[in-house]
Amino acid sequence: MEVPMTRRDLAIRSILTLAFLRTVGARDLWAAAVRPIGRHWLADLSDLSRDVKGGAIKQVEWQAKVEELFGKIDLPELLKFIRFDEMTRDLTYRAKGERSLSVRFPKVEGVPEDLPFGRQVFALKKGASVVPHGHDNMATAFLVLRGEFRGRHFERLADEPEHMILAPTLDKTFVPGGAATISDYKDNVHWFEALTDAAFIFNIHVMDVDAKSAKGSRRIYVDPAGQKLEGGKIRARRISPTEAYERYG
Ligand SMILES: [Fe+2]
Repeated sequence: MEVPMTRRDLAIRSILTLAFLRTVGARDLWAAAVRPIGRHWLADLSDLSRDVKGGAIKQVEWQAKVEELFGKIDLPELLKFIRFDEMTRDLTYRAKGERSLSVRFPKVEGVPEDLPFGRQVFALKKGASVVPHGHDNMATAFLVLRGEFRGRHFERLADEPEHMILAPTLDKTFVPGGAATISDYKDNVHWFEALTDAAFIFNIHVMDVDAKSAKGSRRIYVDPAGQKLEGGKIRARRISPTEAYERYG
């Protein structure tokens, strides 16, 4: 025999139904809001990164196309897409250097979940830096999400046992929406100093970008305050991560 529902039961049931509808509704709205960014932006980023890894496009082409894609992004939509507010809630900043926050993209129809690039968000307080470093066998892109940065790039002209010969190629202020890329072939060394508090960079990185290279993907820290050479070049000492963060973090 069916037990009749009391008024209290009915009230609880309607509260639960409402809560359920709100959750589902919010999820649907969010899914609808992020769909365009996933279908176009993430799909293009995935294709480009797969192409550069497979050798179908050169690393410098990847750089130009990713900068173009990053330049077109609707920043508020991207922040929704990566759930930026959730990701940065109750955040504590590091005294030196960047805090790396992991980024999970939502599932998007037609875009493989196993993406050919790593991604993260760097969070920095004013005066802290993504310290000067180059990379082996990596192509990397930055997009400023919040705050302002002084961003510097250097061409890695030559490697010496204890040094890198660098030529400065870029030194400018980046505001939200500003994008920059580096690779083994163009602007291998970068250095980003936060000029404001609550400064954030979205980063993607294609590891082992040249499958034929024997070099593993890694960061190489350098000190750009090195010996000045002719033509504005610098003989920058290779330094340990500890020294890099102590000096420049
Ligand atoms: Fe880097």
